[in-house]
Amino acid sequence: MAELKKIDAVIDRYYRQTYDVVSEDLVEAILYSVHGRGKRIRPMILLELLEGFGIALMDGHYQVAAAVEMIHTGSLIHDDLPAMDNDDYRRGRLTNHRQFDEATAILAGDSLFLDAFDMVVKAGFDVEKSLALVESLSLSSGTFGMVGGQMLDMKGEEKQLTIEELAAIHANKTGRLLAFPFRAAGILSEQSQEVISHLYNAGLLVGLAFQVRDDILDVTASFEEIGKTPQKDLVAEKSTYPSLLGLEKSYEILNDSLDQALAIFQKIKENQDFNAGQITRLIERLRLNA
Ligand code: IPE
Ligand code: IPE
Ligand code: MG
Ligand code: MG
Ligand code: MG
Repeated sequence: MAELKKIDAVIDRYYRQTYDVVSEDLVEAILYSVHGRGKRIRPMILLELLEGFGIALMDGHYQVAAAVEMIHTGSLIHDDLPAMDNDDYRRGRLTNHRQFDEATAILAGDSLFLDAFDMVVKAGFDVEKSLALVESLSLSSGTFGMVGGQMLDMKGEEKQLTIEELAAIHANKTGRLLAFPFRAAGILSEQSQEVISHLYNAGLLVGLAFQVRDDILDVTASFEEIGKTPQKDLVAEKSTYPSLLGLEKSYEILNDSLDQALAIFQKIKENQDFNAGQITRLIERLRLNA
């Protein structure tokens, strides 16, 4: 079974042991945000899919899993900045710029984005796999993925969005990075291009569902449950699935997207040696009901 604690341990080891520390303050700020109460959904997806394909987990797999968590954590630090969502709490504690200062938070995010690629290289897979992972992680994270989506999100605050526009924001700001571990699992377990593209499509569905879920929780959950200020989108009058379509329809879209992803796993299982048990349980935990 994949161990959650090992993901944190791999990140700690990277910052404490891989090189001589240049700035203790920077490493302290990075690890402060990493070690908050994060769900670790992206690394767990990778590890559980690999186990589903019969791969015995090694350190290198945990390092790739840690890399996506590092980029995700960097994206949260920047997302919370005053120039973006201006949030005070994240993962049950003060946001990085509140605990430290804005410059530190910008730099901690920058570090996490860039160090993640070294982490993938350090995982030590063969050149072909390493290159494919670096390419996929970059495309999921940068201009053609998360950062691009965050730009659309910021621009979207100034206007009334259609559901198509909102879906494009969600697919990019959250969907693509969340789909990375699905593709990475295919790369690392040497699946055919066809299976990798099925996995990726399942990832995009779960990724969209995940942001719809986040939008729903903004309206329905407490600080204790989400570790961040609830009703932020509501107060900011942000376009979200609940604000455009209502809560009931949002629950329906969330659960339908998860169903579609699970159906893809069943298809993969028909032609492949794949045990879908663990990933199915993980995805089932994302369901919300009114
Ligand atoms: C929050 O992500 C931001 C979104 C992309 C929806 P998570 O809900 O995965 O946050 P953590 O990692 O558990 O803190
Ligand atoms: C953030 O979306 C997506 C990222 C790329 C970080 P949100 O702005 O809705 O995430 P929360 O609600 O602050 O976690
Ligand atoms: Mg945001
Ligand atoms: Mg935010
Ligand atoms: Mg949100």
